[in-house]
Amino acid sequence: MNKYIIISNSIKNNITLPEKISKNIILSKNISSTIRNILKTNTTSKTSYAVIFIHINELQNISEILTGKYNYNELMYKIIVAGEEKDLKLIRKNRLQHISDIKTSRISSQEFDLLVEKAFLHIDRFNKYKTQINNSIYTLQDMKQDQEDLINIGKSLSTIKDPDELLKNILMISKKITCADAGSIYITEENEAGKKYLRFKYSHTFNRKLPMEEFTLSINKNSIAGYVATKGEVLNIPDAYNIPKKAPYSFDISFDRRTNYICRSMLVVPMRNHIDQIIGVIQLINSKQSSGCRIKNGSEAFGIKLKTPEDFNRLVVPFDSRYESLMESVAGQAAIAIENNRMIKQIQNQFEEFIKASVTAVESRDIATSGHSFRVAEICKEMARAISGKKSGRFKDIKYSDTEIKELEFAALLHDFGKVYIDINIFKKEKKLYQKEFENLILKFNYLYKFIELGYTFQQTGQAEKKITKVIADLEHKKEEKLKKIIRIKDRITLLNEPSITEKDPRQILSQIQKEIKGIKLFDIDGNRINLITKNERRNLEIKRGSLNSIERKEIHNHVVLSYNFVSKIPWPPEYKNIPAIVLYHHEMLDGSGYPKGIRGDKIPVQARIMAIADIYDALIAADRPYKKAIDHSTALKILKEEAENNRIDKDLLEIFIKQKIYKIIDKNTFKIKFIGNGKPINN
Ligand SMILES: [Fe+2]
Ligand SMILES: [Fe+2]
Repeated sequence: MNKYIIISNSIKNNITLPEKISKNIILSKNISSTIRNILKTNTTSKTSYAVIFIHINELQNISEILTGKYNYNELMYKIIVAGEEKDLKLIRKNRLQHISDIKTSRISSQEFDLLVEKAFLHIDRFNKYKTQINNSIYTLQDMKQDQEDLINIGKSLSTIKDPDELLKNILMISKKITCADAGSIYITEENEAGKKYLRFKYSHTFNRKLPMEEFTLSINKNSIAGYVATKGEVLNIPDAYNIPKKAPYSFDISFDRRTNYICRSMLVVPMRNHIDQIIGVIQLINSKQSSGCRIKNGSEAFGIKLKTPEDFNRLVVPFDSRYESLMESVAGQAAIAIENNRMIKQIQNQFEEFIKASVTAVESRDIATSGHSFRVAEICKEMARAISGKKSGRFKDIKYSDTEIKELEFAALLHDFGKVYIDINIFKKEKKLYQKEFENLILKFNYLYKFIELGYTFQQTGQAEKKITKVIADLEHKKEEKLKKIIRIKDRITLLNEPSITEKDPRQILSQIQKEIKGIKLFDIDGNRINLITKNERRNLEIKRGSLNSIERKEIHNHVVLSYNFVSKIPWPPEYKNIPAIVLYHHEMLDGSGYPKGIRGDKIPVQARIMAIADIYDALIAADRPYKKAIDHSTALKILKEEAENNRIDKDLLEIFIKQKIYKIIDKNTFKIKFIGNGKPINN
C-alpha cells in the first residue's frame, strides 16, 4: 500500500516537521501537478492513501483534481487545510468530507505527526467500510445474477435440440455460475445386462486444450464422480490433493500428470431427473471466485489464466458453499433438459421409423418403384449438403442446417405418398389396354374370324351339292381375303396397343381400321350387335405416348395433391413447416409446364427443384417401369441436361448434381444407396 504525505510549498513554513522525516513526505512546489502526477502514476490496482497539507486558497483547485476523472486508481485522501481565520469562509460545505483538519496556527512537529496519524486512520477506516460495502454489493449482485441464471437456465436449455450442444451449455453455465476453470459431465448409461455405468461425455478447460476422449467409469464409491453418482450427494472438495484418508473416495491424479493440469478444488454434483434417478454427474474444477471472475459477456470471458503451478496455488480457491445448493438446482434443470432431449429424440426416431415403414409399405405395392422415395431422399440430402458447402456462386448464401436437411428428407420420403390412394392397376398398366380389355378386343376379332369363316363354309357346302367348282373356288378366295384382313387388323391392333411411340398417328391407323370394318355386322348368340371397337378401346388405342390415357394420367398427376393433403394433415413441429410446400411443388417445372399448379421460376422453392432432379434421375435409371425401360446413367444425364436446357429443371442445381457426382450414392446395378459423401464431391 502506497502512503503519501504531500505538503504544499505555500504552507511549508507553517509546519515544523519532525526531525525524522518519513520518506513518504513530498514537499511540493506545485501542489496541483504533484497530485496529478501521483494520480497518473498510481497504476497499481491497489488503493493508495494520501494526506495533503495545503493552503485554503488551494482547496478549490486541489479538490477538483482529486474528485476529477483522473482519480480512477483509487487514491483515498484527507486534506489538512492551513490558513488565516479570515480565509475560512472560502471553505465550501461540500468539501468538508475530505477535510481532516483546519489549522489557523502554526503546526508543531508533534501535532504534525498526530494530524497525519489521525488522517490515515480515518482513511483506513473509511476504506475498510467501503470494502465491506463493496463486498456486500458484489455478493448481492452475485446472488441476483445466480437467480437470473437459474431462471434462464431452464429456458435456454429447453431450446437446445442437439444433445452434445446441450451438455456443452450445461457445463458452460455451471462454470459461469461457480467461476470454475474446468469441468466435465458424466452421463449414466446402462449396458444390455442392466448394469449402470458413467460415461465421460464432455469436458472443458479455459485456456487449455486438454484431451477429451470418451471413457466409462463404474458407478462405485472409489472415484469421485462414481461416489457422487452412488450416494447422490454433493461433494465440495477444497483440495483434491489433500482428501482425508478416511474418505471413501479417492482422487485419480493420472489425468493431472498426463496433462500438466492441477485439479485443486472440486465441486461434484449429481444430476437427478424428475423421478429422483441420477442420470449423470457435473464435476467442476478449480474455482477462481475470489479473483473476481464474474463474467459479463459469454463463457469464454474468464480472464484468469492458470498456467504455472504458482497460478494454481495463488488463484484457485475452494468452491463457496453457497454453490452447493445452487448447483443442485442447476443440475436438476440440466437433468430435466437431458431427459426431455432424450425423449424428444426417441419420439423423433419412432416417428421417422414409422414414416419409413409406411413408405416401404406403399412402395411395395409396385415393385417398379420400390425404394424410389428413399433414393430420392438420399440424393436430396446430399444435394442440400453440397449446396451448403458452396462459398461462391448463386447458392453461396444458402446454408441448410441439419434440421432443414431433415425437413427435406421427410418431404422426399413422403413426396409420392399420395400414390397410396390411386388404383394400383394404373401404375402397373403396361400397355394401352389392360390385359383383359385387350384379350376381349382380340376375342371379338377372333369371333368375327370364325363368323366369316363359318359363313363362307355354309355357302361353299350349298354350292358343293350343286357341284359348281368355280363358284366354290371363288368363295374360297373371298373367304381367305377376308380372313387375312381380319388377321392384319388384329396385328395392327396388337401393335397399336404397345406404349411405344409410333411414327404414324394412332388415330389415323384406327380410322383406317374403322373404315375396313365398316359395314360388318356381328351379333352375339342372343342376337345383340357387337361393337367391334368400343369408345373406351378406341380412346386407349389412340394414346400417342406411353400407356396412359388422359384420365389416367390426370389421376397419376393427382398424386402430388394427394401427397400434399396427406402431409398437411401431419402436425409437424414448426421447423418442418415447409414439408407440405416442398411435396406440392416437386413436379413443377421452371417454365411453368409442371403440375399441379404450373408455377414457374423462383416461385418454386429450391428444395422442390432439388427434389425434381432427384426424382427424374431415379425414375429414369431405376428398374424397368411398366411404361418405360430403364435408361443407363449417361442417357439419364443427357435427358436431365436437355430438361435444364429447355428451362424445365434448375441448371445450376443440375451442375452440382453432376460435378459433385451426387448420383454416385445410388448403386447403378442394385439401386441401393451406396455411401454418403456429405456434400463433398464423391470420388470415383
Ligand atoms: Fe411424384
Ligand atoms: Fe417420385
